[in-house]
Amino acid sequence: MDILGIETSCDETAAAVVKDGSVVLANTVYTQIPLHIPYGGVVPEIASRAHVEKIGEVIGDALLKYKAATGREKPDAVAVTYGPGLSPALIVGLNAAKGLASAMKIPLIGINHIEAHLHTPFLRDAGDEEKGLDPVKLAPALGLAISGGHTNWIDMAEYGKYEIVGLTLDDAAGEAFDKAAKLLGLGYPGGPKVDKISREYRESAGEGWKKTLVPFPKGRPREGVSALAGLPADMCVSFSGLKTSLLRYVQQQGGAEALTAAGEIPRVVASYQEAIVGAVADRTRTALKRRAYKAFIVGGGVSLNSRLREVLGEVAAEAGVPILMAKPKYCGDNGAMIAALAYYRRNHEKDAMSLDVNPCLEVGEG
Ligand code: KG4
Ligand code: ZN
Repeated sequence: MDILGIETSCDETAAAVVKDGSVVLANTVYTQIPLHIPYGGVVPEIASRAHVEKIGEVIGDALLKYKAATGREKPDAVAVTYGPGLSPALIVGLNAAKGLASAMKIPLIGINHIEAHLHTPFLRDAGDEEKGLDPVKLAPALGLAISGGHTNWIDMAEYGKYEIVGLTLDDAAGEAFDKAAKLLGLGYPGGPKVDKISREYRESAGEGWKKTLVPFPKGRPREGVSALAGLPADMCVSFSGLKTSLLRYVQQQGGAEALTAAGEIPRVVASYQEAIVGAVADRTRTALKRRAYKAFIVGGGVSLNSRLREVLGEVAAEAGVPILMAKPKYCGDNGAMIAALAYYRRNHEKDAMSLDVNPCLEVGEG
């Protein structure tokens, strides 16, 4: 079964066709990042206009690639992200998907963006040698959805049955990377820049690099605060608290310009990244001890972070649980993850043609 997936929840206009929930037959992603750079973050109005301008071209391109790969012009269903995300951006994708479903007379399937990120490790390309894993057989699994808008640890007792067992009480990990980069004048988006600078710092500082780091806290909230979220403190994180400690440190050192002049930015950046990675690793270690998981599934834009991939690999190995991460090209937002998850959601009860966007859609709700 071939499903066309459409994604417009944030700053990527994307469409893809995926066969049977795993093999990517066509994939087109238009990123709006250059449009948002001058503002240091995603501007919803600009995002929505750019989606309107590009959506037709992006879907057309994916369908052309699909035809070239299979000879077929019409997929069997169309799937679309309906939340969470920016409302004016989500509306563009949902309307396009409704139009296509009715013109092509094929079913429409609404998909939760975060749940789709957790499906990305199962995406394969047509030429891949190894056989894909069956996500249904991997339960119980622990999921980590880590992106610009979310940081959630998710218990999946059965495939598709989600319970949040850990989370950030404020900023998402990607947001923490982006805000720090803005504070230090590194530009947008911050995550890839922080990753690169930190990698270079580690290489230049040599073996004892960890001893040179600024000891930023790992953002552990007080018990009483985490109780408000109904979770223990060792499964919650406050990235906003971590960001505040960076801000204080920068102020104490005379500001970002003084740090730049002193050549200290790489050390500060690497220290901050290590605190984020350490916080994520600690919560993951705790979660993996709680249940005999068959797999640890990681998805979302921040899972591109090279240090995070390395450390999470170590944590999973310590626990004896296989870690599953997407190929880098499927870590960021894309239509393939929407199409792939839709294969497992074909019999969703909701009447998709009357579906509305839900900017605050929670994991397990969609
Ligand atoms: O999943 P995604 O593409 O969009 C959302 O659903 O939010 O994630 C985007 C986030 C941004 O905050 C970006 O800075 C972060 O992922 N990111 C990274 C890296 N590449 C992208 N964060 C850390 N290291 C990276 N290499
Ligand atoms: Zn995303």
